[in-house]
Amino acid sequence: MQIVLCRDAEEAAELVAARILCRLREKPELVLGLATGSTPLGVYRRLREACQRGEVSFARVHTFNLDEYLDLPADHPQSYRTFMRQHLFEGIDIPPDQVYFPPSEGNDLRARCAAFERRIAELGGIDVQLLGMGRNGHIGFNEPTSSLASRTRVKTLTDKTLRDNARFYGPDETQPVLAVTMGIGTIMEAREILLQAYGSAKAEAVREAVEGPVSSYFPASALQLHPRVGAYLDPDAASLLGMRDYYGRARALQQQLEADGRL
Ligand code: F6R
Repeated sequence: MQIVLCRDAEEAAELVAARILCRLREKPELVLGLATGSTPLGVYRRLREACQRGEVSFARVHTFNLDEYLDLPADHPQSYRTFMRQHLFEGIDIPPDQVYFPPSEGNDLRARCAAFERRIAELGGIDVQLLGMGRNGHIGFNEPTSSLASRTRVKTLTDKTLRDNARFYGPDETQPVLAVTMGIGTIMEAREILLQAYGSAKAEAVREAVEGPVSSYFPASALQLHPRVGAYLDPDAASLLGMRDYYGRARALQQQLEADGRL
């Protein structure tokens, strides 16, 4: 895992957005894996702005979101489809039929989850996967003890995740307790993964994911087995890492090799 210690969340979002834009210029038909939540907002703003300035086009891009709440209608204010429309899709030139979410309404969910996976494969697999992380280590909605080989499926949310997300629901709104999520096995097949974590509330999770043992009890630790993960952290999120100094030094040396044109 490449640990990128950033000055703040703004610098991290700038680096992650720059990476995606660079990949998009190299491959206009990029397949992007996307996350919701507060973590990727700075990246989405930068992608919208780059598109609106005419620097890039998403016209040939396909996107696959990690997850969606079961039975929440697409236009529900808390659905992840609403979130993505508001924060990214309405601000870029991606055709709506190139945007995919795991099936979260209706029947035959198991078969349709398999079809979602097949569609990813037909398009050649996910090139770049954006990830945030829950305080309990979930990636997507793969809660603790999710199989590290899991595929897209219905998943029950833990009490901790429900508590973390309760703030988005009014007193008389029903909060979904089930979601459909890409599996950890699905996520691990992406060619490149960009994980972001910000704030002290994520510090313990970052330590577990980066320096803890690989364990289904802490799903983000599975990323240690992926050959190309960048973890972009602000100082608060990185504050409990035992090898912080090393990560900073390693990044500086890497940047020097890049500047010398040797990588
Ligand atoms: C959302 C998702 C989740 C979030 C995680 C962190 O699509 O996959 O794993 O990334 O819950 O949420 P925030 O960014 O709101 O802290």
